[in-house]
Amino acid sequence: MRYRNLGAKQVSAIGLGEMPMSIEGRPDEKQSIETIHAALDAGINFIDTADAYSVGGPDTGHGERLVAKALDSWAGDKSAVVVATKGGHYRPGDGSWHVNGRPEYLRAAVEASLRRLNVEAIGLYQYHRPDPSIPYEESVGMLKEFLDAGKIEMAGISNANIDQIKTAMSILGPGNLVSVQNQFSLIFRSSEEELHFCDKNNIAFIPWSPLGGIGRTKSILANYPAILEAAKNHGVSPQQVVLAWMLSLSDKVIPIPGSSRKETILDSAASTELMLNEEELRKIGASS
Ligand SMILES: NC(=O)c1ccc[n+]([C@@H]2O[C@H](COP(=O)([O-])OP(=O)(O)OC[C@H]3O[C@@H](n4cnc5c(N)ncnc54)[C@H](OP(=O)(O)O)[C@@H]3O)[C@@H](O)[C@H]2O)c1
Repeated sequence: MRYRNLGAKQVSAIGLGEMPMSIEGRPDEKQSIETIHAALDAGINFIDTADAYSVGGPDTGHGERLVAKALDSWAGDKSAVVVATKGGHYRPGDGSWHVNGRPEYLRAAVEASLRRLNVEAIGLYQYHRPDPSIPYEESVGMLKEFLDAGKIEMAGISNANIDQIKTAMSILGPGNLVSVQNQFSLIFRSSEEELHFCDKNNIAFIPWSPLGGIGRTKSILANYPAILEAAKNHGVSPQQVVLAWMLSLSDKVIPIPGSSRKETILDSAASTELMLNEEELRKIGASS
């Protein structure tokens, strides 16, 4: 495993996206805990979840409870593991997703996440998605309040454009915005501008749905000959090739492929060892 900077911490260059283990279609708890343990055993020390990763309503917080339980029953060194969670999204339980960026909502959300994760301070707390009905400054101001109160160790934002990143940088103060988590994959490249901005400003860029989304990766990658060719040349999966390409874009990039099986997260973890040549990288970058 190779490691990258997340604020002052070092995290695995590939993190584990927890969402497929908590939303509709999720596996049973035994399989999920085995998946998380396999990731940790492989040197992955960065797990991304959210309070909303659940089927909603009373199931809210499923992902955080699952991660806390998996860490509790893992024999390794938990102090080196960074659990990233998020607040600002909620699911009422009818399959829908909604945003709430009100300060009082976020205050209650961070307290609930602290309880579920059973920690004194959350490793990385991310404002999940801008709420258009609330000034961004007000919602992101909560991250500053949580940092100052010691409730969170590091602050990040998600689904943010350049203006919102700049706002968060200015509100949080120098060096305190450690990450931006945006959708980025072969089929969704519109966050390239934010990726380059993060690269220049020493902010980790965390691509979400890096493989194109839950249950879609195989059919999507079948349309990319450059990926399939490189996978064949190196005798690895096309998913490993995508992740290795993404890692090559900047040393600030930390993809978080979602997994609900240990086989897939172990395969993704191995992408940190895959070195693609210049020609392969050029062809993949040029494919659309
Ligand atoms: N900030 C946000 O708004 C936001 C939104 C969406 C997601 N996220 C985060 O981003 C993470 C990743 O996104 P995602 O889960 O939506 O999509 P994804 O990572 O693009 O794809 C996940 C799917 O890929 C499969 N997979 C993973 N590694 C594989 C491999 N090496 N070989 C073959 N198949 C592989 C998984 O299969 P199995 O399930 O069978 O293992 C799963 O079906 C989420 O888990 C979540 O933590 C954040």
